[in-house]
Amino acid sequence: MRHLLSMADLDRAEILRILDTAVTMHEVQHREVKKLPTLRGRTIINFFFEDSTRTRSSFELAGKWMSADTINLTGKGTSVSKGESLRDTVRTIDAMGVDMMVIRHMASGAPAQIAQWTGCSIVNAGDGTHEHPSQALLDAYTMRARLGDLEGRHVAIVGDLTHSRVLRSNLLCLRSLGARVTLVAPPTLMPSGIGPWSDTDGFATSYELDDVLPSVDAVMMLRVQRERMGGGFFPTAREYAVTYGLTTARLRRLPEHAVICHPGPMNRGLEISGDAADAAQSLVLDQVSAGVAVRMSILYHLLAGEGSDQ
Ligand code: CP
Repeated sequence: MRHLLSMADLDRAEILRILDTAVTMHEVQHREVKKLPTLRGRTIINFFFEDSTRTRSSFELAGKWMSADTINLTGKGTSVSKGESLRDTVRTIDAMGVDMMVIRHMASGAPAQIAQWTGCSIVNAGDGTHEHPSQALLDAYTMRARLGDLEGRHVAIVGDLTHSRVLRSNLLCLRSLGARVTLVAPPTLMPSGIGPWSDTDGFATSYELDDVLPSVDAVMMLRVQRERMGGGFFPTAREYAVTYGLTTARLRRLPEHAVICHPGPMNRGLEISGDAADAAQSLVLDQVSAGVAVRMSILYHLLAGEGSDQ
């Protein structure tokens, strides 16, 4: 495995290998001295053209805790702001001899294009509305840690599906792991055709969150991405929260064992209430914690593991 551009790059066995390695990496996270020598001498550039809190800091921590040299770049502080093209920019960085670029970009497909232009490993850290594979892996890790094997488990993915790269990666990942998925959204935010992601058994759609909640093992609330919305996809924020938000009242419809996920950042009071975000069933901070371990595992498998091209 050389790049991680899409969850379609990984089969079930590879997903499970990454998740299993992440269990070992998670132990490092709880040590007093968080340092493994595994990636000593390797150089990783985290190049984020779009804002991020969780993904950028966890990829940086993952690299540092594995002794790689890591550098963070953003579009603003580089010659991109002087008009340098994406191709020239990434070829310039590649020419310095880096081993890996972790790319977040507002354009769907940018990491795949960069992989064509450069010789290093490329990891997609979220591209437009396309995919966010490391998020899907950490989501699977977190749900498995609480629920066990996801085979046959019912996961509802709720909210702004049209604009969600997290949805697309999760559908591929959850299908590989054998979960049953129900997509819940208002008609205006339900993708009419979701490309290769619709080529699957095992997912249903619904406009009625209240009907779906009683049978779920996990509910994944997705952020309303106002920055990607050109027009009015719902009448008012209040109407959306009442109809599709995981409100405090709606928490009672969840089975006792069911868990709540959200990739973050959360719009509290819109897609998820404060009570739901902070409930005992909420795995939101577990997801953040798993993010570092899973990204350590991704770096390991791409740069040092058996089957890496390095
Ligand atoms: N979930 C996620 O990608 O969060 P950030 O945008 O903060 O990285």
